[in-house]
Amino acid sequence: MLRLILTLFLISNIAVTEVSATTITLYNKCPHQIWPGLQPTAGKPIIAQGGFNLPSNNAYTLQLPPLWSGRIWARDNCSFDATGHGHCTTGDCGGILSCNGLGGTPPATLAEFTLGNDQDFYDVSLVDGYNLPLTITPLNGNGKCEFAGCVRDLNVMCPMSLQVRSSDMNQVVGCKSACYAFNSPEYCCTGSYGSPQACKPTSYSRIFKLACPKAYSYAFDDPTSIVTCSMANYLVTFCP
Ligand SMILES: *[C@@H]1O[C@H](CO)[C@@H](O)[C@H](O)[C@H]1NC(C)=O
Repeated sequence: MLRLILTLFLISNIAVTEVSATTITLYNKCPHQIWPGLQPTAGKPIIAQGGFNLPSNNAYTLQLPPLWSGRIWARDNCSFDATGHGHCTTGDCGGILSCNGLGGTPPATLAEFTLGNDQDFYDVSLVDGYNLPLTITPLNGNGKCEFAGCVRDLNVMCPMSLQVRSSDMNQVVGCKSACYAFNSPEYCCTGSYGSPQACKPTSYSRIFKLACPKAYSYAFDDPTSIVTCSMANYLVTFCP
């Protein structure tokens, strides 16, 4: 009898999990339009053709299928022709409007999601650098459903050696991570630095962490930057 009840419970639980897709709303509070990009982890489906235009002060709600994982970022200062080919100053995905599974060129602030049956994991990562402020707010979830994100403007405090400037050189439009800028084991946590014990914060990652304590600043940053939450929907805000 107990086994029967347990089986029924499991079946109903699975059914609930399968019908309740996760809703994610992308909200552009930047004073200018952006082009969000969405890259699924290998083997997961492409959502919204991988990218689209989002005008200032507009929101777009998407359904993520169960167990989806991937990253979401903003592309900035894009221009595309009628066929969807062009270029973005930051976050560009191979010069196409619909990224179709491609990732963005660093530096770009990333919202990372791994949806689970019981628990979702999410974080905002500066491991690939920074282009815009970005936050993740969980809505109506259970558990450790904390805010994640980077609210400050890191471009204005970006060290010279990490800066990405607009083509007229007037403006800092992105801030590279030290790993992306220098590609050395110490900053990328590779080789003999390939463990949390060996790969410590650096003067560069500390700048990111100090400004944005609720974001992942380097590959082996404190795992408290990762949040777990269940049964939630999510709001991703660009320029909160
Ligand atoms: C925006 O893109 C144009 C064309 O590629 C470029 O000339 C300009 O410098 C960019 N502006 C910024 C702020 O990135």
